Amino acid sequence: MNMEINKIAVIGAGNMGHQIAMCAALSGFSVRCTDNNADILGKAVQFADNYWTERVNKGKLTEEAAKAARENLVFAPSVQSAAEDADLVIEAIIEKLVIKRTLFAELDKICPAHTILATNSSYIASSKITDATSRPDKVCNMHFFNPALVMKLVEVVQGSHVSDETVEAVMTVATKMNKTPVLLHKEIYGFLVNRFLQATRQEALKLLDMGVASHEDIDLAVKNGLGYPMGPFELMDLTGIDLAYHTYMEKYKDSGDPADRPSPTVVEKFTKGEWGKKVGKGFYDYS
Ligand code: 3HC
Repeated sequence: MNMEINKIAVIGAGNMGHQIAMCAALSGFSVRCTDNNADILGKAVQFADNYWTERVNKGKLTEEAAKAARENLVFAPSVQSAAEDADLVIEAIIEKLVIKRTLFAELDKICPAHTILATNSSYIASSKITDATSRPDKVCNMHFFNPALVMKLVEVVQGSHVSDETVEAVMTVATKMNKTPVLLHKEIYGFLVNRFLQATRQEALKLLDMGVASHEDIDLAVKNGLGYPMGPFELMDLTGIDLAYHTYMEKYKDSGDPADRPSPTVVEKFTKGEWGKKVGKGFYDYS
């Protein structure tokens, strides 16, 4: 059976969530986005408001398209009001398994039986969450990239519990969102892209911790020698050093392997609250 998705809920309005919601609204879906942190939700409302206007001023969006997107996107006050009649929920909250499992259990109670529950997690496979719900066949990974309004890729992961109908519906939504979806036929840590990202990042952090070069010069080397649009430290500032920290910690908890622990530099930045662009300081200063 081909499942039609019209209403999307995005839970988490941070770095990724608000832009995923905006992409969906721009593509004609009816979207509700929420966050349990009022500051984050307020910033998302402000960002979206400015964005529609700026895109029109820049000639990238017609007045009509901006108006439609604005109307399609509602910032909702609670998970209940965002998700109660959604066909698809995309979770984009903190990268902590226990918190995601609690949210999915709540969503399972709130949402209609047909609703697909997708996680935008960077590393956590949906099989670790699915038994918190009563609908394993409808729980999958749908992974966007930062900044989600710009980056084309969406990784869709079909763990062995996920039905073909679910995958088909999620791939169709990604395509309608003007993204390029790729399908992974099995779950693997880091999916595709974050395996490459992590390898580059590990090497960059190792070189920095060894005192071989400054983070600025490592970024310059990667951009000018490999043609990457951003160096690994600039990218960590963009995606969030808190995300990098939690990701390393989740992997370490899972494996118990000390090699999976975050590097001293990541721990230091995380502890100081220097989490990157979103707080004004990370490896670089954005104040
Ligand atoms: N949010 C929304 N739009 C943004 C943006 C942001 N934060 N930053 C830039 N843009 C848009 C601009 O509006 C502009 O749009 P337009 O051309 O349609 O007007 C376009 O992107 C280009 O912007 P700029 O000219 O200002 O800057 P750049 O050309 O340097 O591009 C970039 C910025 C798109 C961020 C580019 O540097 C890039 O591609 N960087 C690499 C990003 C990347 O690798 N992302 C993946 C991270 S890994 C990940 O997300 C996985 C997760 O699990 C950790």
